[in-house]
Amino acid sequence: MRAKDIRAKAGEEPITMLTAYDAPTARLVDEAGIDMTLVGDSVGNTRLGYDSTLPVTVDEMASLTASVARATDEALVIADMPFLSYGADEADAIENCGRMLKEADADAVKLESGPHTVDLTRRLTRLGIPVQAHLGLTPQRENETGLFRQGTSEESARRILDLAREHEAAGAFSLVLEHVPANLAEAVTDAISIPTIGIGAGPHCDGQVLVVDEVIGLSERTAPFSKAFGDVRSEMQSAISEYAEAVESGSFPAEEHSHYEDEIEDVY
Ligand code: KIV
Repeated sequence: MRAKDIRAKAGEEPITMLTAYDAPTARLVDEAGIDMTLVGDSVGNTRLGYDSTLPVTVDEMASLTASVARATDEALVIADMPFLSYGADEADAIENCGRMLKEADADAVKLESGPHTVDLTRRLTRLGIPVQAHLGLTPQRENETGLFRQGTSEESARRILDLAREHEAAGAFSLVLEHVPANLAEAVTDAISIPTIGIGAGPHCDGQVLVVDEVIGLSERTAPFSKAFGDVRSEMQSAISEYAEAVESGSFPAEEHSHYEDEIEDVY
């Protein structure tokens, strides 16, 4: 799958996107026919034990993205660019984004977008780095905005709509809309021709994205706009407890898990 294939799906068929942060999960996501796998900086909260996405580094994202890319045949692999890896210095941003394609084999990058990413989106696109924009709630700005719904006032809704148009004009191949009113997401989807991918943005977007840990029921908490489609956390808890009990009771390892070699009898 290439960025242009995703772009062509706008208004045609629902687009699926899901996060993955490791090879086994990426393989399952790909086998399920998901269109885009996002190596989200949400890994900071979901897997790396941070309280936010802010500490995630470019090296961490490159390593995780490479593991996802190795396990993916069909889906478009998108590397989420971490906090301050873009937006300050253009040359640094190009180098950091370029690493995701050159070293980690990503197909595209995602930038949490704002006025500061319009020119960068144009530059990256011209250099051959497909860019997915991201508006609405952008967690890298949590110290400024909090982790709340965005686009709830007329002024903020208009800003999101204007920025969506500007990022489309700058060459973004798609746009994530996070935690905005469904009627704003519908207006943005109608206003631009690149696909909108919603998360907590209602049913009118061209596609949907969620965090895989929430979808499989691994997270302790699930966002109010998300949904657990499984209960992997309970499965893991019971498997780990059973293992501990089996070792403690001596029932594991059993004969079938052990092997003996006659030839080393003399060692004793
Ligand atoms: O980091 C992430 O997982 C994301 C999605 C929630 C869109 O940005």
